[in-house]
Amino acid sequence: MKDFQSSREPANRSRQWALLERSNRAGGASAEAKQVRDTDKDWNLIASEQPYYGVLSADRFRLENLNDKNRQEFFRSGEDEIARTAAVFQGAFGEFRPRVALDFGCGVGRLLLPMASRVERAYGVDVAAAMRKVAVENVAAQKLDNVVVTSEIPDVALDWVNSLLVLQHIPPVRGYALLAQLWERLNPGGFLSLQVTLYHDLSSIRSITDDMATATYDGETVRIHAQASNLEAGRMSMYDYDLNRLIALFDQRDGQRMVLEHTNHGGCRGAKILVRKN
Ligand SMILES: C[S@@+](CC[C@H](N)C(=O)[O-])C[C@H]1O[C@@H](n2cnc3c(N)ncnc32)[C@H](O)[C@@H]1O
Repeated sequence: MKDFQSSREPANRSRQWALLERSNRAGGASAEAKQVRDTDKDWNLIASEQPYYGVLSADRFRLENLNDKNRQEFFRSGEDEIARTAAVFQGAFGEFRPRVALDFGCGVGRLLLPMASRVERAYGVDVAAAMRKVAVENVAAQKLDNVVVTSEIPDVALDWVNSLLVLQHIPPVRGYALLAQLWERLNPGGFLSLQVTLYHDLSSIRSITDDMATATYDGETVRIHAQASNLEAGRMSMYDYDLNRLIALFDQRDGQRMVLEHTNHGGCRGAKILVRKN
């Protein structure tokens, strides 16, 4: 994050990013981030109760239903996703040979395991201790010796950063700074595969009001004055990001190719963004 705090920055912008950075350690939300929901608390609870269902919310992935067949389906979905991601990178950029990769919000390792089988070293980062514990068990079961699972974004240079089904659950006020940190770690020529949600369609729009206690609506914009305080921990909130802001963050050369794929998770619409750093 050094870039954002350089002396060339206007003072107020430096301060803004410094505050965001402090609120962004994967291990905990600070006072600034508590203006919005403490989603770290939610994920620690979800992970300790239903780690696989927390990753893919289908009843067959609840612990009580996780037989061999369902477990295989769970991990096959990750292998398919990563194989497709690699093929899209290869097709769009003509090569895809990362050596060091990081899966941000790795959960139980669904995407981390197939990533690790393609690179020399792979890092899995997750805020939830119970997710990390299961991920480590799954890494050991696969006899992989090139994987580090951690709660913090490590200070290492990366060739591939992947994050799917994660940023959508992190309030953007924290998420943009996390993404800036991940982007900064990426080597020139490195690859980013990122899924974010961008808007709610009619089928999911009512879930937004659950997060509100009081708000103003002027026919065009809803402004939240107070967050709901009565929601139990363990909720999976869905937050929308601003594509303009993301594209500005992933600063690209004129004419540089970016791949966008539409995503729809229960009416929360978004995109998978695949870019290569200049
Ligand atoms: C829906 S799961 C997806 C897991 C994995 N990406 C996959 O697709 O298999 C979301 C994961 O993001 C993690 N997560 C949520 N907030 C996070 C944060 N601030 N930092 C790191 N991980 C976070 C959760 O603990 C959970 O494991």
